[in-house]
Order: sequence, then C-alpha cells, then structure tokens
Amino acid sequence: MALRNILIHPDPRLKKVATPVTDVTDDLRRLADDMLETMYDAPGIGLAAPQIAVMQRMLVMDCAKDEDATPEPMVLINPAVTWVSEAKNTYEEGCLSIPEQYAEVERPAEVEVTWRGLDGKDHRERFDGLWATCVQHEIDHLDGKLFIDYLGRMKRQMITRKMQKLKREMARD
Ligand code: NI
Repeated sequence: MALRNILIHPDPRLKKVATPVTDVTDDLRRLADDMLETMYDAPGIGLAAPQIAVMQRMLVMDCAKDEDATPEPMVLINPAVTWVSEAKNTYEEGCLSIPEQYAEVERPAEVEVTWRGLDGKDHRERFDGLWATCVQHEIDHLDGKLFIDYLGRMKRQMITRKMQKLKREMARD
C-alpha cells in the first residue's frame, strides 16, 4: 500500500467527469487499498479516485468516525444514486481537496445507491445520516462537482482564492 498525493482545488482534474470502471482487476484492488490508506491518513471519511488524479468512477468511505468505532471501510465502483428522499439534511461539509474550509450543504437525507464491489458483485444499499451526505459528496467528485459548487458565488470565490494562496505557499516550501 502507498499514500497517494491528494489534488488541491483549483485543479482541472477535479472538474472532469470520471470514466466508468470496466473490470475489477488486481490493479484496481491495489488502487482501492491506496485510497483507503490515503483517506485514513489524511484523516478523512471519504475519497474519490479523481482526487488522487485517477479519472475512474471509484470511491472509498468510512463514516464510522468515533474513536472506538470499528472501521467500516467501503469501496464503491461505478456508484449511482437510484433514489433520494424528499426529506433534506444539512451538514457542515469539508473536503480533502479543499483543506480546512467548511460550509453547510443541504442534500437529500436518505439515498439509495447501487455499485459494483471489489467482489465483482452488484450491491444496493440505502444510506442515511452522515453516510448519505458522504456518499453523495463523493459521487459528486466523479462528476467533477465539489461541495463549494452548492454555495453562493461570493463564498465559493473566497474559498477558491484561499486555496490558490495555499497552493502558492505549498509550491514555495
Ligand atoms: Ni471531497
């Protein structure tokens, strides 16, 4: 396993639509392991492949976040939202590609998602609470969408300017 570099917004790769995965190969399993390791190391609760510059429709997440909670790593290949609840939920979201910036985003409170697992089988599950927000946030990444795209223009530009400054500082070090 290896830690991968996480792209920081703004980056054109974070705005692209990722390609469906065709086969569950050993390379893909290694990629999933790297993504989970990178996510836990960050630390974060979700990571989509485009965030590490792999333009494929795969994401990892683990929202069992309490310190004593048993890890619940999930790997979703070609995930698709097949149903959303009318009820909404608001969470203060963040993103590993937009470090230390948080904002409230309203999304459906419950979603049903289908995906292919690393076992090569099709899965279907209903998510609620933090899991529902996380899976929607990560699927957005596969479509080139970031949580700041839900914010007003002023707020989004303010965050983008902060990230540009951060990237200049990181390049200097
Ligand atoms: Ni994110």
